[in-house]
Amino acid sequence: MTSPVRVAVTGAAGSIGYSLLFRIASGEMLGPDTPVILHLIEIPQAVDKVEGVVMELNDCAFPLLKDVVVTDDPMVGFDGVNIAILVGGRPRGPGMVRADLIKANGPIFTGMGEAINAKAADDIRVVVVANPCNTNALITAANAPDVPNERFTALTRLDQNRARHQLANKAGVSVNDVTNMGIWGNHSNTMYPDFFGAKIGGKAVSEVITDHEWLKGDFISTVQGRGKAIIGARGASSAASAANAAIEHVRDWFTETPEGDWVSMAIPSGAYGIEEGLVFSYPVRCDGKGNYEIVEGLELNDFAKAKIDLTKQQLLEERELVKELL
Ligand code: LMR
Repeated sequence: MTSPVRVAVTGAAGSIGYSLLFRIASGEMLGPDTPVILHLIEIPQAVDKVEGVVMELNDCAFPLLKDVVVTDDPMVGFDGVNIAILVGGRPRGPGMVRADLIKANGPIFTGMGEAINAKAADDIRVVVVANPCNTNALITAANAPDVPNERFTALTRLDQNRARHQLANKAGVSVNDVTNMGIWGNHSNTMYPDFFGAKIGGKAVSEVITDHEWLKGDFISTVQGRGKAIIGARGASSAASAANAAIEHVRDWFTETPEGDWVSMAIPSGAYGIEEGLVFSYPVRCDGKGNYEIVEGLELNDFAKAKIDLTKQQLLEERELVKELL
């Protein structure tokens, strides 16, 4: 057994938190040999609800769960924390796009960044789940100047998973057969799920799925619009699948990516013609020690380049809207 890893979750009383915490405490995120101490951070009005969740966590008698800290103060909540999962923020409702949340949620992340900067452990790693997650990660990083920039990431694993399911379903294969699923850009309606680079059973997707109109059309729009479709159907934004993606994002950050494959993470930009200063999703490979690198040398055709430029433009616009927070 190693020493416990301190994992902070903001918005701990919310629906994503409820799907997330039990899986972290059971060892699904960091493995069966890593004890955890949960730091649950909430707004003051929701702290009582968190206490109820803690009762349930205790009632699970998870052997790996060594302690739980509950607080409404980020300076307490991020103290000594190794991994921060930033879920807290207003979720999107019917009729809204994720960018509509920018004014409500952006300012929350200046405080998160300041507290992480002041209190987190030296090896802190952060994933932002709350939308607009790329730009919220940018704000967090900008307010934590002493923490290396590459430690701040945002969640596009949900999009990777959505894309893999769509391709597997269309091809009539298992999701395990769909690899190399890169998501580029913003977790938004402009993201680009790169089916040209993805593979099914080791073959190019476009060889296995011959309906190229579907790939260029409905496939992309389904992945881009999935969050909205779920809100329409459920009356609430995705929760269990977002929590699952957050678990997989962190787990894979600390796992060596299988040879030849890659995963998608929104990370500080600066490759493939995207200037520095954004949080942009790329295909990356992780080394098993908490480091990632962007997959180099991928061929991007004109179709892909145009899509990637569109999502970059949207991120530049989002950054402009929050420039006073950076
Ligand atoms: C999702 O993609 O389901 C979430 O980011 C929620 C949303 O606003 O779409």
